[in-house]
Amino acid sequence: MQETTKDILKKYINFFKEREHVEIPNVSLVPKNDPTLLFVNSGMFPLVPYLMGEPHPEGDRLVNVQRCVRFEDIEEVGDNRHTTAFHMLGNWSLNDYFKEKQLEWVYTFLFDVLKIEPAKTYASVFSGNKDAPRDEDTLKILKKIFSDYGIDPVENERIFFREEDNWWQRGDTVGELGGPDSEIFYYIGDKEIPDKALDPSKDEDILLEIGNSVFMEYVKTENGWKRMGRKNVDFGGGLERMALVLQGKNDIFETDNFWPLIETLENISGLSYGESIESTRHMRIIADHVRSAVFLVMDGVEPSNKDQGYILRRLIRRIVRSGKSLGLDREISTELASLVVEMFKWLYPELEEKEGGIKEVFQKEEKRFRRSLKRASKEIEKYLDQLSQKASEEDLAKQAFTFYQSLGYPEEIFLEDLRERGVSFDTRKFYEIYQDLLEAHKERSRKSAAGRFKGGLADSEENTVKYHTATHILHEALRRVLGDDVEQKGSNITSERLRFDFSFHRPVTEEEIIQIEGIANSIIKSDVPVKSKIMGSKDAIAQGVNFLSNEKYGDKVKVYFVGESLEKSYSKEFCGGPHVDSTGELSSLNIYRQKKIGRGTIRIYAKFDL
Ligand code: SER
Repeated sequence: MQETTKDILKKYINFFKEREHVEIPNVSLVPKNDPTLLFVNSGMFPLVPYLMGEPHPEGDRLVNVQRCVRFEDIEEVGDNRHTTAFHMLGNWSLNDYFKEKQLEWVYTFLFDVLKIEPAKTYASVFSGNKDAPRDEDTLKILKKIFSDYGIDPVENERIFFREEDNWWQRGDTVGELGGPDSEIFYYIGDKEIPDKALDPSKDEDILLEIGNSVFMEYVKTENGWKRMGRKNVDFGGGLERMALVLQGKNDIFETDNFWPLIETLENISGLSYGESIESTRHMRIIADHVRSAVFLVMDGVEPSNKDQGYILRRLIRRIVRSGKSLGLDREISTELASLVVEMFKWLYPELEEKEGGIKEVFQKEEKRFRRSLKRASKEIEKYLDQLSQKASEEDLAKQAFTFYQSLGYPEEIFLEDLRERGVSFDTRKFYEIYQDLLEAHKERSRKSAAGRFKGGLADSEENTVKYHTATHILHEALRRVLGDDVEQKGSNITSERLRFDFSFHRPVTEEEIIQIEGIANSIIKSDVPVKSKIMGSKDAIAQGVNFLSNEKYGDKVKVYFVGESLEKSYSKEFCGGPHVDSTGELSSLNIYRQKKIGRGTIRIYAKFDL
């Protein structure tokens, strides 16, 4: 019978327990006391103080498995190996055993216990730099190990030297720990044995890294990396990747960690996995994201527009979008989340107890997102109505990208819409341009987030749309309380709050603020529709539509109004949108700050009550 992930884990933990390791509990994916890290991304994360010298209550030899999330490569998910969540097998020596024992044990575990083939196994070693010498000890030990298993340990054919790729450090600030490491690679190509010499730096498709022993004896100082006088070992092994090897696959999604999800997707979509590149990609995205999202909810994360909550929201939304691309137009995430609970309750018994709550989170978020997709379709209808039959691929790609960014509308669905309307275009050309836009965007968001979390994201369409509508309502409330002198001077909206600048000769009093909030909130509570209309700009101005006097408008303008009709509206403004469909979707608004900026201009900040 094939080795299950559960068997592999059990064997690993037992192997190290037999060698005097104590199994330590794993921790929540949400780091405690580390605002620089969004998710726990390696097993050593909670052990930093002990690696530095604090005595660990369980001793100097530790072992466990830790769930990890690395969301930086979320866009890469869809190939045969990238996943956002994975499990890291870990064993540690806190200044106890070092290179010799670690390498002997880890290869004994792989070759004798798991029985992976030495002939398909490759290793890498640190080549040295100005801070630390070439790792001759590791080379010597590895040569002996490979020879003992009948493999000629030829340098640069079996054992590779690398510099940066074989140095592991958690971060780059003074005080961080690091050291040379030695990675283990396994050949997962189609052939019995590889038919050419392989190199882990070049043959990434067929050489899979399955584990890494870090010899953590360095600490970062003002003057580079220095030995800290402690010889630690930090081993990290990819549990799912080991399952891939032992289950004879070359696709992580075909292991027992994902396969039941893929099968369910095949059943409900009627499509076959592997049949087309696109549907395979979407099935992988869904399977990966459902699993990560369940683990996140299990660890107490709730969808929101910030930090961990935002990643969760993004994962669930991508599930829905990829589902749409598979032609699944009904709610899917709850059923799949239940399946994840079923699949992983052996590892996380608490999942069973939490299942109800987890399903609720998925259901609510999916529903919410489906609502915004529906709202997006209206915008898209409008766009399609005025589109000519032959638009350039560049225009279409730009538009698709804008819809994706602002409304979360999937580009492939947009293409379907275009085809339905008989708009002709060259799909290949479209995707070339679209991919370029996407790449440029990814690059920008990577850069902008790099300072905060090593990845990070900063987009939150739904709340931003809400604040946008709230800004119109607030503008109207200000005019009603403070008079027609109030004129918008500027506004700035984030997913967290709105900021509004307007002309007024003095600060607003406490009493006036209460009145303004009262009017805005009564409009919100009345749940009136928000509509738009294209009008001649002169006509609109004549009808009292608000506009920015310092802005230029064309002959025809789009007017958004809050109310059943323009004549009977609560607010009417020149605006490109988007807005919510109805004010009932907003929470009540609270003005929490004001300041005077320059002569005759007041700035106020407002946000929704939770
Ligand atoms: N810390 C190392 C890694 O993340 C080994 O556990 O790869």
